[in-house]
Amino acid sequence: MKRQEAMQKASELLNQMTVEEKVAQMIQVPYTTVSHRGALRWAELGAGSFLHVLGDNARELQRTALKTRLGIPVIFGIDAIHGHGLNPHATIFPSQLAAACSWNPDIVRKMGEVTACEVATDGLHWTFSPVLCLGRDTRWGRVDETFGEDPMLAGELGAAIVRGYQGDDLDDDEHILACAKHYLAYGEAVGARDACDSEVTERKIREVFLPPFEKAVKAGCATIMTAYGSIDGLPLTINHRILHDILRDELGFNGFVVTDWDNARSLVTRQFVKETIEDAAVAAAQAGNDMIMTSLEYYDAMLNALKCGQADISTVDEAVLHILTIKYEMGLFDRPEKKGRSGCIGCEAHLNASLDAARSTITLLKNDGMLPLSDEIRTVAVIGPAADDIRAQYGDWTYFSHPNADKHAHPERPYVTLKEGIEAVGQRHKVQVLYAEGCSHIEQSTDDLVNACEIAKNADAIIYAVGDMIDQIGESKDRANLSLSGRQDELFEALLTLGKPICTVLIASKPLCIVKEAEGSNAVICAFNGGMFGGQAIAEAVFGELNPSGHLPISFPRHSGQVPVYYNYLPGWHNGNYCDLPASPLFAFGEGLSYTSFELSGLSCDSESLTVHLHVQNTGNRQGSTVVQIYQHDLVSSVLTPVKRLIAFERVTLEAGSGTDLVIPLHRDDFALVNTACQTVVEPGSFDILAGLSSKDEDLLRTTILL
Ligand code: BGC
Repeated sequence: MKRQEAMQKASELLNQMTVEEKVAQMIQVPYTTVSHRGALRWAELGAGSFLHVLGDNARELQRTALKTRLGIPVIFGIDAIHGHGLNPHATIFPSQLAAACSWNPDIVRKMGEVTACEVATDGLHWTFSPVLCLGRDTRWGRVDETFGEDPMLAGELGAAIVRGYQGDDLDDDEHILACAKHYLAYGEAVGARDACDSEVTERKIREVFLPPFEKAVKAGCATIMTAYGSIDGLPLTINHRILHDILRDELGFNGFVVTDWDNARSLVTRQFVKETIEDAAVAAAQAGNDMIMTSLEYYDAMLNALKCGQADISTVDEAVLHILTIKYEMGLFDRPEKKGRSGCIGCEAHLNASLDAARSTITLLKNDGMLPLSDEIRTVAVIGPAADDIRAQYGDWTYFSHPNADKHAHPERPYVTLKEGIEAVGQRHKVQVLYAEGCSHIEQSTDDLVNACEIAKNADAIIYAVGDMIDQIGESKDRANLSLSGRQDELFEALLTLGKPICTVLIASKPLCIVKEAEGSNAVICAFNGGMFGGQAIAEAVFGELNPSGHLPISFPRHSGQVPVYYNYLPGWHNGNYCDLPASPLFAFGEGLSYTSFELSGLSCDSESLTVHLHVQNTGNRQGSTVVQIYQHDLVSSVLTPVKRLIAFERVTLEAGSGTDLVIPLHRDDFALVNTACQTVVEPGSFDILAGLSSKDEDLLRTTILL
């Protein structure tokens, strides 16, 4: 239904609602923490939404809601984060962080489309995705959920996945609502302690953390989730300026805002800024939260507050209007259950989309010529804790990692671990494959480094798979130490003494400190959490069936003490050096090699039309794909501006020996800064335009324009 009509209908319905019915619309009930009977009672009361409920249980709740006096349909939300993960049969994609290595909005949009279709086929309406926080402090447990450290890249990919989830029309049967979260600056908590205070200013917010949300809103994102934390001491849940003035008045957001889990109650129990739940309820609603996730006491508290005049009904009306408008726009009143597409959950086309996505994420960070493996390599040893751990490969937010899941459950087929991938692809190349885990991610008595070395001794080359495991990822899993855990470094050193070529593969939720492996290995591949077919994609790259084309969306620290080490830092004294560590990251934002080579030349930029011209040549001997990155650097500005800032990128695929002339349009806004009055302005002057295949100075061509 068109927006205007939906708003009209919503306000007509609102006029018929009792105060109790209105407040109930604002409630989102967590199915997993109330009994089924309890959930039914909430449906009878007219609760607006439920989360984490599937199948017949959801259907019964919907039937119950439809039988209420006004028959307002329930909206079902779920964490379909990289695939419809809470359904054990769904297609699991690479994590957001892994997907960001593709620098490919089409791949990311497709992930959204497939996921939406599978969620809709389960009759559900809404995913709490994408995460548009930035992964700058990589100690944070939720870095895997981000699109990396850069606001521009995160915004482009965020907008793409929103379009994938929502399609062109909210009432389309195969599409669902997206939810950009966690608004705002949630990933920036001090010490990377999840959900703590972010010490950022409004200027910084506007420059760094707001832009991805702005792009999602422009892409039509229907819902936004309020972050847990606080900014400069004020919980986001009661930050009217951010939730209302900036979001609605400035960005023009016209969907509805949902709190994160228990945000309302946490104002009393965790953040200690409200004494009673009534005070918390009123403040949360007045600040601009339309739907309240999980704090079920909100219902009575808000009714009490309204009765005694502590709150005004207009606050509730505004929230309910936002929710009902979206429900009408989705066509929920005509078709309360999404139909999806029968048989699509885990269907072949969707599995192929997951494999395509996994292939596009493979990022080659070092290669002295070991890869692709030559014909002389007849036996390969696959070693390491990440080689055959499908749960680690899946990463967070799947059926197997959800807090309510069986801790030891494994996915049913199809999936391919790295070990299985090397075995299957190796067979095509008539290569014998040996395997030993060697050690666990976390030290265990079963670790057997000696045996792993004995096995590796018999091979011509070693694939060493390191990383982290489910217990080291997610909420409340922030890490103070980003070194490889357990005996992974020790095992590497032991393998190194064998004198065999080693390719280290990182299957992890985030950049870990793999300095020893990076220095000692002949090749390094970063795969992060590649989903179902991560192992296959890596194996194809190892044997040369796939030419890697991923680029890092995030910088790799050399040491935990170097974090944060993002590329777009503000300049200062002493080149940012530590006396005991170089300033540069181990691997930089934007890095990613190929089995072919590319050369850029002829960079120019026209100051009038703001168009970049440059030539890209495939100078190697096979087809390949790379990402041309354009950065700007403001030479003199009223406030410090980043040493470089990504403003455009383009993926290019070229046959061996061929080249192309690129024409990349820029926009005046790409040169804006946020001044001390918090205004976004372009200050006239000179700007460097930098073009290259990574953010590293030595990889960049440079020209200067005057604006
Ligand atoms: C997380 C959100 C998630 C919500 C619902 C919270 O703990 O922070 O990202 O969407 O739970 O599961």
